[in-house]
Amino acid sequence: MKIAPSILSADFANLERDIQVVEKGGADLLHVDVMDGHFVPNLTFGPSMVEAIRPVTSLPLDVHLMVSDPEMWIPAFAKAGADTMLVHVEATPHIHRAMQLIRSHQVKAGVVINPGTPVSLIEPILPIVDQVLVMTVNPGFGGQKFLPEMADKVADLAEMRAATGLDFKIEVDGGVSDQTIEVVAKAGADIAVAGSYVYQAADPAAQIATLKELA
Ligand code: DX5
Ligand code: ZN
Repeated sequence: MKIAPSILSADFANLERDIQVVEKGGADLLHVDVMDGHFVPNLTFGPSMVEAIRPVTSLPLDVHLMVSDPEMWIPAFAKAGADTMLVHVEATPHIHRAMQLIRSHQVKAGVVINPGTPVSLIEPILPIVDQVLVMTVNPGFGGQKFLPEMADKVADLAEMRAATGLDFKIEVDGGVSDQTIEVVAKAGADIAVAGSYVYQAADPAAQIATLKELA
């Protein structure tokens, strides 16, 4: 299982240090939570944050767009250095076009489903996505409680992937910890985002190692 620490729970005044700690500690990707105060009730970073982070790490940047009108932001985040861009199916009536737009910038395209959204809604676009992110909390904040029922969606996606021969990655985001990683690993997740579990500990590298051991 790959681990993607979320910088949402890092110390923003020491962001370079906090990125390097997880990079040295075995992180596989760096997850960047973009929130617009409209699609979700919180505000975080814009493309300039991705641009600032790009030169201080060689980890792939996994950019999670929790924004309305995601198409409007795709070119700017691509230019800033995103490696994967994740768009919520709930945020646009044109998810197929959004995936195409991301790929036209040579960036990996991911689709995200909220806890209230069924897997069936994204089934038609699975052939054109590189990643599917299953939210295991309602998006907007770090440190929320994992919703165990969401593991069924991961299992359904893993089954669909096996049945169709597609090769998208399955990612989970929200409430991942030493208490919850096993259930998502068993269900078939490939990537787990972890924010507070990694950063709200004295030794983030040890937290990553624990998640990898359990997964
Ligand atoms: C929530 C974000 C998550 C968040 C996860 O809206 O998408 O990426 O940082 O935080 P934890 O791991 O603390 O639940
Ligand atoms: Zn996220």
